[in-house]
Amino acid sequence: MKSVQIEDLLKKLSLQDKARQITQINADFIKADVKAEATGVSDGFYLTKDDVFGCGSVLNFGDARDAEYIRKKYLEVSENKVPLVMMQDVIHGYRTIFPVPLALACSFDADLVEECCKMSAVEASLNGVDVTFSPMINLSRDARWGRVMEGYGEDPYLNGLFGRAAVRGYRAGGLASCVKHYAAYGAAEAGKDYNTTDLSEHNLREYYLRAFEECLKENPELIMTSFNLLNGVPVNADSHLLVDILRKEWNYNGVVISDYAAVVEMIKHGYAENKKECARVAALNAVDMEMMSSAYIEFLPELVEEGAVPASVVDEMAKRVLELKQKLNLFENPDNATSVQKAEEACLCPEHREIALRSAEKSFVLLENSGVLPLKEWQKIALVGPLAAEKNILGAWACAGRADECVSVKEGVEKLLGAKVLYSKGCSVDLLSDDESIIADAVKTAKKAEVVVACVGEHSYHSGESASRADICLPKVQVKLLKELKKAGKPVVAVIFGGRPQVLTEVKEIAAAILYVWQPGTEGGSAIAETLYGKVCPEGKLAMSFPRSVGQCPVYYNHFSSGRPKSKDELHGQAYTCGYIDELNSPLYPFGYGLSYTRFEYGDIKLSSAVMERGGKICVSVPLKNCGSRAGGEVVQLYIRDKFASCARPVRELKAFRKVTLAAGEQKTVVFEITEDDLKFYGANGKFAAEAGEFEVMAGGDSRCAVAGVFRLL
Ligand code: NOJ
Repeated sequence: MKSVQIEDLLKKLSLQDKARQITQINADFIKADVKAEATGVSDGFYLTKDDVFGCGSVLNFGDARDAEYIRKKYLEVSENKVPLVMMQDVIHGYRTIFPVPLALACSFDADLVEECCKMSAVEASLNGVDVTFSPMINLSRDARWGRVMEGYGEDPYLNGLFGRAAVRGYRAGGLASCVKHYAAYGAAEAGKDYNTTDLSEHNLREYYLRAFEECLKENPELIMTSFNLLNGVPVNADSHLLVDILRKEWNYNGVVISDYAAVVEMIKHGYAENKKECARVAALNAVDMEMMSSAYIEFLPELVEEGAVPASVVDEMAKRVLELKQKLNLFENPDNATSVQKAEEACLCPEHREIALRSAEKSFVLLENSGVLPLKEWQKIALVGPLAAEKNILGAWACAGRADECVSVKEGVEKLLGAKVLYSKGCSVDLLSDDESIIADAVKTAKKAEVVVACVGEHSYHSGESASRADICLPKVQVKLLKELKKAGKPVVAVIFGGRPQVLTEVKEIAAAILYVWQPGTEGGSAIAETLYGKVCPEGKLAMSFPRSVGQCPVYYNHFSSGRPKSKDELHGQAYTCGYIDELNSPLYPFGYGLSYTRFEYGDIKLSSAVMERGGKICVSVPLKNCGSRAGGEVVQLYIRDKFASCARPVRELKAFRKVTLAAGEQKTVVFEITEDDLKFYGANGKFAAEAGEFEVMAGGDSRCAVAGVFRLL
């Protein structure tokens, strides 16, 4: 159907039909074949059967069989036969589950992100999904927030880069993307999900909107608005964010969809008095589609008749949704016949499992190593801890992933060794457990071995939506387990699972090595075994800082300098400087940090000039040598600091990175180009431009690297 025909179709649809087209409901309503009423947190739905069979879209419906059934039934009952667009949360895999996005970010490998998203899309589209609610590119600096696992960490550049890679990957695999959550959702006060955010225009544009602006270069088909208040206004009513910036300044013409019931949540926010007002406000502020509440269906026609919302606005909203359907070829192929057999063949096929394995390996971050790793195959090991034999290592938002299809650490290690290993659970994985009764058995097991591998940390359900934590230390019982294991006199290798950075200050004192494996997905156990035994060399670098204590949250590398900065990271001796009296300022493990089984040395870093002309460039040469005895990969990072500007600039900002693999003894010089574009920011006049002055350049293996040179922009 051509766009002219979309206009014709629009003419045929009644106002009520249009309001239905711009509403997304749960597929269960269609399955149940009834009128729908759903109250819950957000007082969502009151729909007649005609409403249900007129809705434009469904979400989270199941697999290929469900999709076929739903599309067919919908088309049979629906009067106008406009096909459904079906959306699902395909976040880090469909059935084959890849590491959580925050883990993938630690690979510092955009091609890998693209590949994982492509594979996810291949499985999902064969299962009837048209649109995925992904990528999430919310900048997140507070590890207490449960959803940090869904994004790409604390750096705006990385979020933009990986967000773009994800959109490209999904498209290549046959899925449309919905970039989310616009905007500032990750800035929730105290890390509590759905909580208030308050940001200056400068902070918003410079940090929280950057990745969105960047992602729009890939033309994502949809953007999802967020749940939060921003500066006192619910995002779904924020004309500055949605109309001025998104539609007018960035010319975004795709579909804007609300988050789940967020339109009617404006009542609970204390902003809109009733559902009708919610519908009016969201419609007038460019929210094209309402997810999982029925303010549009119930009130938009009435609002148009009363003249409170122009009919042209509703036409525009419906048009965008119909255009999306056209773009996805749904009119030509309304029942989007999915072959159940093909879907089954694609899911968990060897190629996808192989990428799940490789991506997990590349996402692990080696935080400590006294030399105990890699393990030797002849060493007798004891595998302990609540996550050692756990099959659910999928992470939150695992879509159609199944725990029974995952490789646990125990299975992975036993497969690699070709033998059974000593095992004891040691304690419960519950965050609040104080049951120490089975620690003794783990200690007994440890005593029979030469090395202990303790698998601890968070379970898949300890992070994700609505899973914020006030205390992100390892649970007390797990720390006790580690201490007792150490007392047994054997080196303890801590393999730590998590959907967020955790406070590992105590663990650092106990463990001989720490391997952070996040929520690694389907092939997690195999990837952990390969890494522990040195079949692969860890090369992940942190995309989010790890605090020393919870009170440091939010701690992030690209912060501003206070007027009284500490000159050294110390507790005492510098009165009246910015910091704590009971904690250092630095994180335990900084952004960009990660060890390897080999050792890299940086040589003399050189700048091609001390002056940059407007439109010119500076080359930064960074010599790197693998001084260890085995091959390995390093992420060479380039940071700059704009020393004085009309708005103070962060102490450093990542501008580029390069992943380099070197054989033992090999050296290479990485050359970065810095251009004027890299120096631009939103200045005091609101303009995005580079200001003349001095810039420091730092390059190295993590965000603590020293200043290597200075240049001046004319
Ligand atoms: C609510 C979440 O915030 C959002 O990310 C997700 O896509 C929707 N629910 C749909 O499941």
